[in-house]
Amino acid sequence: MASKEEKIDLILRPFRYDNDRLNDIMGRLHKEMEKGLKKETNPEATVKMLATYVRAVPDGTESGDFLALDLGGSNFRVLHVHIEKGAKDVRLQSDSYAIPESIMTGSGEQLFDYIADCMGKFLEKIEMKDKKMALGFTFSFPCKQQGLDCASLIKWTKGFSAAGVEGEDVVRLLRDAIKRRGDFDTDVVAVVNDTVGTMMACGLADHDCLIGLIVGTGSNACYMEKLDNVEIWEGDRGEPNQVVVNMEWGAFGEDGALDDLRTAYDREIDEHSINKGQQIYEKMISGMYMGELVRLVLLEMTKQMLVFGGRTSPDLETPGTFLTKYVSEIEEEPIGDMGPTMKILHSLGLKHATETDCGTVREVCRAVSTRAAHLVSAGISAIVNKMGRERVAVGVDGSVYKYHPHFKELMTQTIDKLTHSDVKLMLSEDGSGKGAALVTAVACRLAGNS
Ligand code: GLC
Repeated sequence: MASKEEKIDLILRPFRYDNDRLNDIMGRLHKEMEKGLKKETNPEATVKMLATYVRAVPDGTESGDFLALDLGGSNFRVLHVHIEKGAKDVRLQSDSYAIPESIMTGSGEQLFDYIADCMGKFLEKIEMKDKKMALGFTFSFPCKQQGLDCASLIKWTKGFSAAGVEGEDVVRLLRDAIKRRGDFDTDVVAVVNDTVGTMMACGLADHDCLIGLIVGTGSNACYMEKLDNVEIWEGDRGEPNQVVVNMEWGAFGEDGALDDLRTAYDREIDEHSINKGQQIYEKMISGMYMGELVRLVLLEMTKQMLVFGGRTSPDLETPGTFLTKYVSEIEEEPIGDMGPTMKILHSLGLKHATETDCGTVREVCRAVSTRAAHLVSAGISAIVNKMGRERVAVGVDGSVYKYHPHFKELMTQTIDKLTHSDVKLMLSEDGSGKGAALVTAVACRLAGNS
């Protein structure tokens, strides 16, 4: 008969990847990237490789006052960004507004009215309601762009499902909502994905920053690609011979390409999600699902009498109760001090948890978060190897990357093993919003109005 440790190991083993497996995943993703970039194969590709209209990074001569909006997670942010010529960073003030679930899943008009309402409040607060500023809109969902200020939503991801937005130009919806209010005016110049904003924001300090990565509620990456490799590009082919590609890598696996790696817990998460069958890679990585994965593993272990003396609690049996931030808190604990873990387990009604249980819970958290870091590293390494540069920097943002105690270190070690390039990971504070303002500033500079 297998011992308790062996049974625990059997459950966690599918979360553990060695180098061969990571190399294999890189190969599969690389294939999908090629498929997405080619005109003929793009329609069947899961990784859509969306061409943005961002083709230049800031050159330091941009300046002025800009507004930025950041929509994509559970909070919506409005930012006022002041850019000065030659500065390595920008000055900003911002406010954050929680988006009620009823708004995320209501009608598109309600969502955009809510956005305009928050903007009105913010402009009033900073006393800038009468100043018409150029605006950059970070909209962190897959969009087909027809220009810098024109982006139709392909599909909602993460927790959003507002009706009547898919297939529509989100810039038009924003402009309409602002018009409906009529108490302030802005000039919407650019719409960008959060990965692109993050890359641009880090680009100010490091000109080799040519990759943007988000590991937060969702996960995705973008990178600067040579136009010659982007068959799907429909814009002009003049200089510069490059364009930022928003990969939308979260969708990797939607055709079954990752099925052999998915665990029963991954399938269950997908089964109960609002976008079943979609965003398979994202569901194995991002913060929206990480805590829930841990909860499902713990439930199975309880069923097999491996933790909590075989007794669950109503909370542990309720979806969404094991927050992703608990994973970071539990893994942050110094070895030997079970205080924080015990506190979390108590708050979930598991008053009967023992110190050994705390150790097992930590092991589960570690297995799930390490798999996420490994998957992200394989993704970044596939991009780095495709780019073939000697040195490249990656601008990174997102709550999982920012708050998990070992994520960055694990990524650095893993990427080092999977590539031959010198890869620097740069944390981008406020990157996605700041970056939208920078893209806007570059566009204004090129248009000669700044
Ligand atoms: C989801 C979105 C993507 C975004 C990512 C991170 O994957 O589809 O556009 O970049 O989340 O927020």
